[in-house]
Amino acid sequence: MLKPVFRHAPPDDLPVVEPVAAVPDALRGAAESAHFAAKPGQLLEPAAVPRRLLAGIGAGARYDLERAGAAVARHWSGIPHVALDARDLSALQAAELLAGFCLGAWRFDRHRKRDDTPRLKRVTVATPHRDAAREAWARAETAVRGTLFARDLVSEPANHLTTKEFARRLRGLTKHGIEVEILGPKRLARDGFGALLAVGSGSAHGPRLAVLRWRGTLDAPPVAFVGKGIVFDTGGISIKPAHGMEAMRADMAGAAACAGAILSLALRNSPAPAVAVLAIAENATGAGSYRPGDVLRTLSGRTVEVVDTDAEGRLVLADALHHALCFKPRAVVDLATLTGAIVSALGTHRAGLFGNDAALMASLAATGEQVGERLWPMPIGESHRVDLASDIADIRQCVPSSRGEGGWAARFIPDASHAAAFLREFAGGVPWAHLDIAGVDTLIRPHALGPAGATGWGVRLLDALVAARFEEEDHHAVPWTAAP
Ligand code: BES
Ligand code: MN
Ligand code: ZN
Repeated sequence: MLKPVFRHAPPDDLPVVEPVAAVPDALRGAAESAHFAAKPGQLLEPAAVPRRLLAGIGAGARYDLERAGAAVARHWSGIPHVALDARDLSALQAAELLAGFCLGAWRFDRHRKRDDTPRLKRVTVATPHRDAAREAWARAETAVRGTLFARDLVSEPANHLTTKEFARRLRGLTKHGIEVEILGPKRLARDGFGALLAVGSGSAHGPRLAVLRWRGTLDAPPVAFVGKGIVFDTGGISIKPAHGMEAMRADMAGAAACAGAILSLALRNSPAPAVAVLAIAENATGAGSYRPGDVLRTLSGRTVEVVDTDAEGRLVLADALHHALCFKPRAVVDLATLTGAIVSALGTHRAGLFGNDAALMASLAATGEQVGERLWPMPIGESHRVDLASDIADIRQCVPSSRGEGGWAARFIPDASHAAAFLREFAGGVPWAHLDIAGVDTLIRPHALGPAGATGWGVRLLDALVAARFEEEDHHAVPWTAAP
């Protein structure tokens, strides 16, 4: 990541970025013809002054500054060294602008043999509050590093990021004071992780359960993050169509985001205890594959009838959620690229928000607006529980699709809600929220904070959620009500 240098004034020999909340009078004409209204992410390169770029910051809130910084990094991506003129910004705003700049400058080039495209290498920040800005950056930088850690993992293809390699990368977090425990297939079998083992059974690379612990200093139970870490999702025996299947290398984005969030907490030495439980497996086809019709015994002891081996995410999460309860968490938040149905419902701008706790869900929704990782509430009710009744097991994994039979209504299945309702059965009644991130984990076009590809969605959200809600001892006393 870029290491910034803080100065009092921008050096004369560098291209300079000027953040602006409004269009300067002198540039009214130029701004009008360029449709520049100083909105966050809008840029103006005045023709008269070379090597000067105006970046709109709108109202000047966190996400406004971040978008401005990222837009600049994208626009000037080929210039090796630029200066951000933050002399009219607070120390915190300067750090936020810089955070956006670093997010926007990220690229994933590990697998290119030779890359001689010129790249941003250095950044200088001009600010009158040098010490305060350095301090603000030390804190803001942590969520950036967590996000880029997640983006790197999500970008990595499945022949490189095997289950074993994923575990190895997570073990590397130990150097930041995070406790890392990895359970391999033998241990999972001994302990009864029947769902996670079944999903991983068709692969040459066995499943893993990773537990990352940040102890913090508060005398309070931890907040738990639970992540879906499918390194590749072929669909298994209920195999996916070939078209677009390559995108399924990102099916571990939930786990990556949880890991990135723990990294961020550790880097900024958060007082809040937190734990991440990551279910890592490859959903492959093989002689050992699990099948539609199988009945699995989950870690919770409850049995599940498999309907479709492509609905593997909810199975591995059932075991991971149950395991997370061992830590007696004050709240559980799971992140998963869980259903295509959520993409149909919400597209790529918002993730689906499900849960059993109105207060936790409201905090997540509000935090999401602040950091630009937006959510929209989705229902789970009693009818979804009824839909998951099985003839042969305690619960069935999903509702079979009817391929045109069974009448008109049977073709429209609320699978995102069914998946969430299935998870609810394993969340043990603690305050719990489920984020279905299938539409936001990777994007095919550049977005506000980075290029096309992995977004690292969820790291900044979880990090900010912890800061807002879990860094005080008594917050778990907030009453919560279960949704019907
Ligand atoms: N990983 C997919 C969901 C997904 C779809 C993520 C598109 C990102 C983009 C998940 O494992 C899956 O295959 N879900 C099935 C469930 C169905 C078989 C009930 C789906 O959505 O089709
Ligand atoms: Mn699947
Ligand atoms: Zn999947």
